[in-house]
Amino acid sequence: MNFKNRDIISIKDFSKEEIEYILDYAKRMVPYANGEKHTTLLSQHIMAALFFEPSTRTRLSFEIAMHRLGGNVIGFADPSGTSQKKGESLADTIRMADSYSDAIVIRHPHEGAARLAAEFSEVPVLNAGDGAGQHPTQCLLDLFTILTEKKKIKGNKVALVGDLKYGRTVHSLAYALSLFKADLTFVSPETLKMPKEVINECKEFGVEPVSTSNLEKAVKEADVLYVTRIQKERFPDPEEYNRVVGSYKINIELLKEAKKDIIVMHPLPRVTEIDPEVDKTPHAIYFKQAFNGVPVRMALLNLILGGKL
Ligand code: NCD
Repeated sequence: MNFKNRDIISIKDFSKEEIEYILDYAKRMVPYANGEKHTTLLSQHIMAALFFEPSTRTRLSFEIAMHRLGGNVIGFADPSGTSQKKGESLADTIRMADSYSDAIVIRHPHEGAARLAAEFSEVPVLNAGDGAGQHPTQCLLDLFTILTEKKKIKGNKVALVGDLKYGRTVHSLAYALSLFKADLTFVSPETLKMPKEVINECKEFGVEPVSTSNLEKAVKEADVLYVTRIQKERFPDPEEYNRVVGSYKINIELLKEAKKDIIVMHPLPRVTEIDPEVDKTPHAIYFKQAFNGVPVRMALLNLILGGKL
């Protein structure tokens, strides 16, 4: 399978076989990701990390992934220190990063920004989140986590909980889980339901997601609970945010009703939606999940930039 120079804009651009290949490749990256083994596969390469929106895990794990492969990183974590402040267009910023680097990682508040960037760039572009759109590399690390913890994706009952309207992670994940024939439940307040387009995409794979606001029932039935933050920054009306914030909270009490081997995932950052007391239970997988971003992003960078493993 050849991924050389491929853009990673949406998970929808990848077939099931391609995703399986990437996940398998990521597994082989784990000893390099945790520092057990060392490599200089990408020592001749430079990655540009352009973050127009806040990030902790995505940016750091992309950077660590590149460093662990022996590569170099340039970029910014805050556009206020760049010429965007002087009115430079996204297209021009991308043209520059294109001439300075071998791959561009971009996070941007506008849906479609990564796709646009790819049009202005010769070097491959990796979407690290575009507004409420897609977050394909998070999706791959989420799939990798489910596969590692549950040994399979197909047939698992996965409940996606929280802000399903504005959450880009769940938009990518709902699609991919349907491709892999998982069983889906969407749990959200009425105003933050999964967009119809995403539900229709799931149906195209023969999956019939159940939409509900009943968290207790969903927790009882789930094998995987994927919790998300209410995306405050995407609300057009702050009053609307105040109405829904804190509407779902996962705590030990609630998990007592769950299957013994339920896993609780979260792309992080969490605000109030998972009680920190859950952290010490064997159900809490979110920090492991965040680490999995390193081998998965190493796999992607190595495949795209053509390093031989
Ligand atoms: C998510 C994001 O940025 O979409 N975080 C992440 O990449 N791990 C989720 C969020 O911000 O709530």
